[in-house]
Amino acid sequence: MGITEEKAKGRFYTPEHIVRNILDLSGYRGPEILRKHVIDNSCGDGAFLKEIVKRYCSEAVKAGYTNAEIASDLSQYVHGIEIDEEEKNKAVVHVTEIACGFGVDQVRWDVKQGNTLTETRFDGKMDFVLGNPPYVRVHNLAETYDIIKRFKFSQNGMTDVFIVFYEIGLNMLNERGILGYITPSSLFNSKAAYELRRHLVNKNLIRAVVDLKHYQPFEATTYTTIMILEKTTDRQNVSVNTVGYYEYDPLKLAEKFVCPLTCDDFYICGDFYFASKKALNRLNRILNCRIRYPGIDVKNGFATLLDSFFIGEWSFGEYVIPVVKASTGKSSKCLFPYDRSGKLIPYSKLKKNQLISDHYRDYETKLKVRSLANGDEWYGFGRTQGILDVYKKKYSICPIIKTPKDLKIMLCDKGTGVYGGLYILTDYGKETIEEILLTEDFMEYISLLGKYKSGGYFTFSSKDLKRYIWYKLSERKNFKDEQLRFFECSESIV
Ligand SMILES: C[S@@+](CC[C@H](N)C(=O)[O-])C[C@H]1O[C@@H](n2cnc3c(N)ncnc32)[C@H](O)[C@@H]1O
Repeated sequence: MGITEEKAKGRFYTPEHIVRNILDLSGYRGPEILRKHVIDNSCGDGAFLKEIVKRYCSEAVKAGYTNAEIASDLSQYVHGIEIDEEEKNKAVVHVTEIACGFGVDQVRWDVKQGNTLTETRFDGKMDFVLGNPPYVRVHNLAETYDIIKRFKFSQNGMTDVFIVFYEIGLNMLNERGILGYITPSSLFNSKAAYELRRHLVNKNLIRAVVDLKHYQPFEATTYTTIMILEKTTDRQNVSVNTVGYYEYDPLKLAEKFVCPLTCDDFYICGDFYFASKKALNRLNRILNCRIRYPGIDVKNGFATLLDSFFIGEWSFGEYVIPVVKASTGKSSKCLFPYDRSGKLIPYSKLKKNQLISDHYRDYETKLKVRSLANGDEWYGFGRTQGILDVYKKKYSICPIIKTPKDLKIMLCDKGTGVYGGLYILTDYGKETIEEILLTEDFMEYISLLGKYKSGGYFTFSSKDLKRYIWYKLSERKNFKDEQLRFFECSESIV
């Protein structure tokens, strides 16, 4: 199967250790599983169903069931749905092999080819919904777009089908049922999952979260989390209101308990964040800081959408400015077809310079295929960001870091552009900026935001950085003297 097909169908199969972790955390173990309905509603070739059948048979044997009884139970209580006929057939072969290992045959498997998005026969009946739903952006699913858009959790932004599988899975549970999924951790902070988060908190459904952070158990580039949800109406019981927060130990291939949390700890400004209570408390203060400081701004550098054309060691004699690549801190030059007020210079004027004219001619096709905003000229930058700040003092900042030194803070004098990262506009000196950012505290803040990149790196946005600097300035001792320059806002920036 090629990577494209895997991607289109969201088909990344779950390794055995993750399946076992999910079943254990969901309570699908021990004699309690007997005569309980369980479903994997996107079962692929049966990674979850195999372990489910193994556990069922083993418990049934211990309980003294006959082989005929076990066969009848497996037919009645174990369910699977898979959209792909071939994969479904493999799942049936795999579970048959496991059952046969216990001497159990003649099982009439309820593992069927079908589309879970339109399946209602399991609604309200399942004790356990376990699995790894497909991760596919809805725009890659043209044929089912209308069906997906009917779900409550799919109303915000660019939905991914796994979000809808949460709604379907919860619908399948009976009133005390448990759902255990591994899904992208984008559910913590994506706009698309906003409604899902709100629902999980309002209905108090989360029993445990295993944040896998940078650990990627699949070949997919996605970062994932294990979510255990419990559909219970028992709100009197305090223990039901706490969420067990776990991290993952990739060496032991097991979750490790960190602490119990309440929704108030981890549900901050509409997003989910997971860490110790103390760290979350601090994060809460930063994210809800209402102090804004107009003398500091953080922005995105140039987006030319064709750096190979604009950036280089040009000797055109004019229309060239120095630039710093924020991600590396390296200086070079940039063809800058704008005047001091940020207006695009007429092409007829630029063309008078023969070297520039030749350069445009060589790249004309490539420049014209960039996805430009309506009304933007083909010979300018792809986006207008950063252009107006060229003649202001600023500091370039690399927005992908593992340690604070990766920030590569560079002073960029007036007249120097920034690309490939962020920049801070401020009159403060470099020492002040470094004092605020080159700290473990800043690193902790960035890691708590949970925007993972490969190799153990984290990324952050201009808004994330601005929010932190404002908060740190408001904490400074001399804040009182400076407070006339601050103003308090009624809303936090979310
Ligand atoms: C991430 S894989 C997981 C498979 C299996 N549960 C596992 O953990 O190994 C998701 C599976 O969902 C299937 N799938 C995608 N859309 C589906 C749908 N609408 N209904 C049922 N299955 C679907 C894919 O074919 C794929 O096998």
